[in-house]
Amino acid sequence: MLATLLFATVLIAATSCSKENESDESFSSNTGGTESHNTGENCMNCHKSGGDGEGRFTLAGSVFNGQQSGYSNAVVRLYTAPNGGGTLKATINGDARGNFYTTSGIDFAGGLYVAVAGTGGNVEYMNSPVTSGACSSCHGNSTTQIVVN
Ligand code: HEC
Ligand code: HEC
Repeated sequence: MLATLLFATVLIAATSCSKENESDESFSSNTGGTESHNTGENCMNCHKSGGDGEGRFTLAGSVFNGQQSGYSNAVVRLYTAPNGGGTLKATINGDARGNFYTTSGIDFAGGLYVAVAGTGGNVEYMNSPVTSGACSSCHGNSTTQIVVN
């Protein structure tokens, strides 16, 4: 009985961060994870409804350092006003490959303002609001990659 209970607990803990199918939750973290891939590409080309990628991301992208490599452990925050003002609506921790991603519901209605923080305390703000979490639909395409130092 106790063994069954323990086993169940371990199973829940082990599966809570992985993605078995499209409806499962998935998110990056600052814990050295390297499960992600394709740094710099538009994750939502595949991680979308009906796409091949495991997990349907609501927000995802990549942060680079000044040397064109993925920036490990950046932190992406979404606010209701520019330059870190208003209400903090979401915090997404980037992984060791420079990628950040989540399947959590994010309400972009009205637009949200992005701040990306480096591990040394530097913060880069995007001036205009975003209404989509597909950061690399623009960054790396119509505009430069997201860079933090
Ligand atoms: C060309 C399509 C494609 C693109 C672009 C893509 N992915 Fe994936 N992704 C997949 C597929 C297919 C899988 C499942 C098979 C695998 O693990 O390779 C997957 C799996 C994953 C996994 C789960 C791995 C695991 O072991 O559970 C993560 C995390 C992930 N992708 C993150 C990202 C991020 C972040 C981006 C953007 C920087 C991205 N992907 C871009 C197709 C893609
Ligand atoms: C519709 C296109 C578009 C989307 C989507 C977009 N950006 Fe941007 N981003 C830009 C443009 C253009 C600039 C430069 C002008 C500005 O700051 O508004 C920029 C600037 C930035 C900057 C400041 C410059 C830098 O490189 O540090 C950061 C940080 C940033 N974006 C992060 C993000 C993140 C994170 C996302 C996804 C949540 C995102 N952006 C989605 C177009 C976009």
